[in-house]
Amino acid sequence: MTIYPKKLMLLGSGELGKEVVIAAKRIGCQVIACDRYANAPAMQVADKAEVFDMTNEKILKKAILKHQPDIIIPEIEALAVNALIDIENNGITVIPNAKATTITMNRDKIRDLANIKLGIKTAKFDYASSQEELIKISSQLGWPVVIKPVMSSSGKGQSIVETSNELQAAWDYAMKEARGTSPRVIVEEFLRFDLEITLLTVRQRHGPTLFCEPIGHEQANGDYQSSWQPAVLNTEQLKQAQAMAEIITNELGGAGVFGVEFFICGKEVIFSELSPRPHDTGLVTLISQNLSEFELHLRAILGLPIPSITQDHAAASRVILAKEVFESVAYKGLENALEADNTKVLLFGKPNSKKGRRMGVTLAKGDTINEAILKADHAAKQIEVIENKTGNLTI
Ligand SMILES: Nc1ncnc2c1ncn2[C@@H]1O[C@H](COP(=O)(O)OP(=O)(O)O)[C@@H](O)[C@H]1O
Ligand SMILES: [Mg+2]
Repeated sequence: MTIYPKKLMLLGSGELGKEVVIAAKRIGCQVIACDRYANAPAMQVADKAEVFDMTNEKILKKAILKHQPDIIIPEIEALAVNALIDIENNGITVIPNAKATTITMNRDKIRDLANIKLGIKTAKFDYASSQEELIKISSQLGWPVVIKPVMSSSGKGQSIVETSNELQAAWDYAMKEARGTSPRVIVEEFLRFDLEITLLTVRQRHGPTLFCEPIGHEQANGDYQSSWQPAVLNTEQLKQAQAMAEIITNELGGAGVFGVEFFICGKEVIFSELSPRPHDTGLVTLISQNLSEFELHLRAILGLPIPSITQDHAAASRVILAKEVFESVAYKGLENALEADNTKVLLFGKPNSKKGRRMGVTLAKGDTINEAILKADHAAKQIEVIENKTGNLTI
């Protein structure tokens, strides 16, 4: 029998990390939450916090060695992965493992693995390392194309380009927003998909890979706006998505939740990308399932049993976005948002806001997917992010 508590170090302390900490604390773990700014959401519920630049290899290694955690749980992409590779070689577990963390933070590495090595269907794609290459490749793929820096997240540096006249602006934008210094973009065929989904895939230490019901989502301005579960797929599509998710996650290895993204185009299921950690669209599982994606992540990481994953109602989530910059924030409208039954509001506790920053989500259950979506939308509309004029409430 394993002895608890385990000491966990969380790299990235946003809203998803906060839920990981809550799930970890509930099963007796100790957590050190790290991020580049103080009082980040996960730090508010963790045992200890560390504020430092996690993209700096030396500083990241030093912080890990100082705390000597049993397990490191990356919750964001932008990390000095060389530090994680080194630490893993010294016997500290990285979730799911340092290799998967490295591969999935590079669009080219995960795409080459999925499509070229494993033969999984993706959009047609190629890479360009200069504007000249970009012009050549784009016209070969056919218009429109989607251009993304190889290292970026949340839609940063990403453009949909209709004609060759727009390529220079797209290249400049990708270079400006790219993480790291690589002058490389992935150019993809633009897919007119019917639906995009996240298939939460749980790789266990002991036991088979498990799947949550697929989650449908809507994206705008680089981030998810609304998600719902279950997304309607036919049996064949679901089988295809699960098979692809299992092949890729087996290749990456380790234990934990993976958010595997697919496009559904007619009968076809096309792999897009994946996160080796809980997915933002999976926040809906906080209301939809017997075990949320965060609880599943923790159980899988610690090798604890997952006897079943069940969902008894359709459910949906809708983001609550800030409209303005505020140094310190407060909220209005909770009493209206919470009027409907089976509706919840999660406010993340971010200390300040800027235009478009995700400050919370609403969650709702319904008898049908449509009802759940309408309830979550309605609740989100009631909440307003305002300036906290009474002074910063940070203790
Ligand atoms: N080839 C494509 N065709 C159509 N839409 C796309 C394509 N690639 C990305 N998108 C849209 O952009 C969103 C973000 O792209 P994604 O590759 O998932 O990057 P990120 O790492 O920023 O999430 C997707 O969820 C989808 O809505
Ligand atoms: Mg994505």
